[in-house]
Amino acid sequence: MIVTAKDLLTKAKEGKYAVGAFNTSSLEITKGILQAAYELKTPVIIETSEGEANFEGYQVFVDTVRDIAEELAIDVAINLDHGKSLESVKYAIDSGYSAVHIDCSKMDLAANTDLTKQVVEVAHAHKVSVEGELGYIGGSSEVHEGEQPKQEIIFTDPKEAGEYIKATGIDIFAGSYGNVHGIYKNEPKLDIERIKKISDVSGIPLSLHGGSGIPEGQIKDAIGAGICKINVNTEIRKAYREALDKALRGKNAEIVPYKYLPEAINAVKEVVKKKITLFSNGHIFTE
Ligand code: 13P
Repeated sequence: MIVTAKDLLTKAKEGKYAVGAFNTSSLEITKGILQAAYELKTPVIIETSEGEANFEGYQVFVDTVRDIAEELAIDVAINLDHGKSLESVKYAIDSGYSAVHIDCSKMDLAANTDLTKQVVEVAHAHKVSVEGELGYIGGSSEVHEGEQPKQEIIFTDPKEAGEYIKATGIDIFAGSYGNVHGIYKNEPKLDIERIKKISDVSGIPLSLHGGSGIPEGQIKDAIGAGICKINVNTEIRKAYREALDKALRGKNAEIVPYKYLPEAINAVKEVVKKKITLFSNGHIFTE
C-alpha cells in the first residue's frame, strides 16, 4: 500500500526506530530496494531527487513503485527528496508521490519559512506529508577523494528549528548536525546532543540525510536522540556500480541485460537489507 512518510515515521518515533529512505534512479535499484523491504517484512521510503526523477520519469517511477508495492503487499512511501521549488513539488504530487521534502535551506529563515508554508498548504490539501529543512546539508551522493566539508557554521540552531517547525506546520524535520551527503576519507561526527535538543523542541520525527558512511554506533545514538528517517544513496550507487562491473568483467560477449543486471539488483538489495536491519533497532514490524 502507498502511505505517507508521516504515517511511517509517527510509528517510528513512538517505537524508537528509524525507517530507511532509499534513493533510486533506475528500475534495478527500485527492485532491489522494494525486494529488501519485502524480504524483511518492513515498510520503506523510496525516493528520488529531482535529477533522479527527471531521468526515470516521475510518472513511470510512481507507477512502477505502486505496482511492485501492490504485488509484494508492502507499505511504501514515495518521497521527493530535496525538492527545490513549489513547481517541482506540485509536479511530484500530481504524479502520485505521497511525501515531499522541500529544501530551501540555502534561503534565509524568512524566505525558507515562507516557501515551506506554501508547500505544506498544497501538499496537505492532497494528503501528502512534508519534510522541511533548516541548516544546510552539503556534499553530494558520490565517493569523494577528500575529507568531509566542514559544516559547523551551518549546523541547525535548535531554537530556530523550533520556530520554523511551528510556523510552517511541516510533518518531518531535516537538519544539519554533522551529516553530509556522500562518502569521504574521514568519518562523519554527528552532534548527538544537537539532535536531541532539536527533537525536544520540535516534537516531530527528525530526518538524517547523508546516511552513507556513518558508523553504526553513531546511527544508533542518532536514533536514540530522535532520528526516525535515514536517507541512503551513495552506498546504494556504489554497490550497484561495483556489482555491475563485476558481472561484466571478462564477459565482453554478454549482451543480454537480464543475465547481468540481477547481480546489481542483488547488491542493492543486500545493502538495503543491512541498513533496514540497523535502522529498525530491534523493532519487529507487525501488520
Ligand atoms: P548519502 O548519499 O550520503 O547516502 O545521502 C543520501 C541523502 O541524504 C539523500 O537526500
